[in-house]
Amino acid sequence: MDAAAGGGKVERRYRATRSRRVVRPKASVPPGETRLEPGRVGDEVETFRAALVSRVIGQQPAIDVVTEAYQIFRAGLASSDRPLGSFLFLGPTGTGKTNLVEAMAEVCFEDRRAMLKIDCAEFSHSHEVARLVGSPPGYLGHQETNPYLSSSNLLRYQTADFPFTLLLFDEIEKANDALWQLLLGVLDKARLTLGTNKEVDLSSCFIFLTSNIGSRSVSDILAPRLGFATGGSEPEGRVQQRIEDAVLWKARRTFSPEFMNRLDHKIVFHRLDGGQLAQILEIELMKIEQRLARRGEPIRFVYSARARQRLLAEGTDPEHGARPLKRVLERRIVFPLARLIASRQLVGGETVAVDWRDDFAEAEFVLTAGRAMVARAG
Ligand SMILES: Nc1ncnc2c1ncn2[C@@H]1O[C@H](COP(=O)(O)OP(=O)(O)OP(=O)(O)O)[C@@H](O)[C@H]1O
Ligand SMILES: [Mg+2]
Repeated sequence: MDAAAGGGKVERRYRATRSRRVVRPKASVPPGETRLEPGRVGDEVETFRAALVSRVIGQQPAIDVVTEAYQIFRAGLASSDRPLGSFLFLGPTGTGKTNLVEAMAEVCFEDRRAMLKIDCAEFSHSHEVARLVGSPPGYLGHQETNPYLSSSNLLRYQTADFPFTLLLFDEIEKANDALWQLLLGVLDKARLTLGTNKEVDLSSCFIFLTSNIGSRSVSDILAPRLGFATGGSEPEGRVQQRIEDAVLWKARRTFSPEFMNRLDHKIVFHRLDGGQLAQILEIELMKIEQRLARRGEPIRFVYSARARQRLLAEGTDPEHGARPLKRVLERRIVFPLARLIASRQLVGGETVAVDWRDDFAEAEFVLTAGRAMVARAG
């Protein structure tokens, strides 16, 4: 029975993949008629997708579903009594779940923080939900509370070009019962009743929910492979499939069927491989340069291949995605840079070569243009 069900699943997956690739011969249409191409994506949507791809490495399935929902919104086909899209992002820590929402905020509103973000861990008691919807009249604090999910707050980041709101519920496994009730209503009808009995319309929201539930099963699946970038005899695709199945199974056991059935998409983020971490390293090095450029005249950095390798080697930990890499960059690059700038060894307009020799405990910073001197961070 199980085997048959499993076989069906594989079969369906196979057909789904195949149908995307099949190029059907085009039957001729009568003269004067034009065959339309529903597979073609609009230019603006393509630009949106490309902007996400350059900010979120890997995670193609997640980028695809977000782009699809965005396209439906752009075409004016979104339903008026549901959110524009609801996405549950699952999978290991540090793999880009929150980053994808931040990337969308940056692409649309030029600010990674342009979203309403609800940290579910902060709502461990039912009465705290009043911070989101306000207290009913007569209750203590009724006047002072400006509910987070008020209509005016939902409009806070909207622009004429992007008239929608990004609403993120982080770590939903930590939400209390009252927050779950609120979520169910929002996902189903895109409506919310405030403490004052006023209704709030959330049909112009993209709703993202993240959870790393099932991460323990991910560690178990990866356990024999940890520490070996290409270790284990199982093909990567099969490991990824096992992770996906285990995480979704855990999510179905943890979250109620009402909740799971209301979501448009449930996506398990993939763990990041060495090549993807190398791409993330480039993005993060660029971000450091941009941070400095905001202060005034930019400083240019040229990293040697050795420096990149050492940063990657120190920042790679298969269980924690890109988080260790970011910490290594803070410790090895940002902290020394801060010291170099504070001691005026490094000023705007200069070019710095960053190297890291094998026998050195720390990275080396050498001025190659501007004042000729070796900058020592220590
Ligand atoms: N796929 C990715 N592409 C680009 N950068 C990434 C990616 N994954 C992680 N990062 C980097 O690592 C940081 C942490 O990732 P993020 O906050 O998205 O983790 P998460 O998947 O939400 O994990 P958690 O479950 O612990 O919240 C991001 O801010 C980003 O800089
Ligand atoms: Mg996160």
